[in-house]
Amino acid sequence: MGTKVRLDRFISNHSKMTRTEASKALKSGKVTVNGDIIKAGDVKIDEENDKICIDGVEICDIGERWYVLNKPAGYVCANEDKHHKTVFDLMPNVVSKDLFVVGRLDIDTEGMVLITNNGNLAHEILSPKKHIWKDYLVKVKGVLDTEKLSLFENGIQIDDYITCKAKITVLEEQKDENGELITNCRVSIREGKFHQIKKMFAALDCEVIYLFREKMGDFMLPLELEIGNFRQMTEEEIKLLYIKANGE
Ligand code: URA
Repeated sequence: MGTKVRLDRFISNHSKMTRTEASKALKSGKVTVNGDIIKAGDVKIDEENDKICIDGVEICDIGERWYVLNKPAGYVCANEDKHHKTVFDLMPNVVSKDLFVVGRLDIDTEGMVLITNNGNLAHEILSPKKHIWKDYLVKVKGVLDTEKLSLFENGIQIDDYITCKAKITVLEEQKDENGELITNCRVSIREGKFHQIKKMFAALDCEVIYLFREKMGDFMLPLELEIGNFRQMTEEEIKLLYIKANGE
């Protein structure tokens, strides 16, 4: 049996909510304790053993935490930013002080963002040596001929760095409203250099006009997770990252 505390106090101590906001969330039926909706703030809960959720997301700022977010354009992958909204603005009830993004996406890139407080595993997922593939859907201006595709697959010089071998599959060619040719493709890279995919295509004289991350290692962005939404990752999903990070 763990320490007993009032539910409204627990919420304001362990989330970004004030006591008043916590009371509002309680009254509107957003709070569950071990799956049951609780509306009264003075109910005593067991801080170590009870599972308290707001809008289905568990409140916790202790232990290992992993979240998956479907990032919309317009948000930066940083804990704070003076000029832009951050991915943490999409997670209003989550205490973000020890959390960080695993492999940042650019402000205009969409799709899978993993957020954790596990620095060691995050480092392994990003290391090129660990062979964790990150898959992106990319829309580029122009045609990707066989020469460009083979350059992509053999390493491209960006800045003073030659990229590891990447994978690329052309999915569809289409014309935009001005009759310009657009190529849709799926690209997989192992490392995660700053603006890597945009720079790789720029080196081939192609402009990326849309970028979406759909997968990291064996973990695919969950289909039910709409753009702008996030949820905690399940044990099984986290294990998928561990297995890959250990190269098994
Ligand atoms: N490569 C880029 O150029 N941008 C991203 O956001 C991710 C990979």
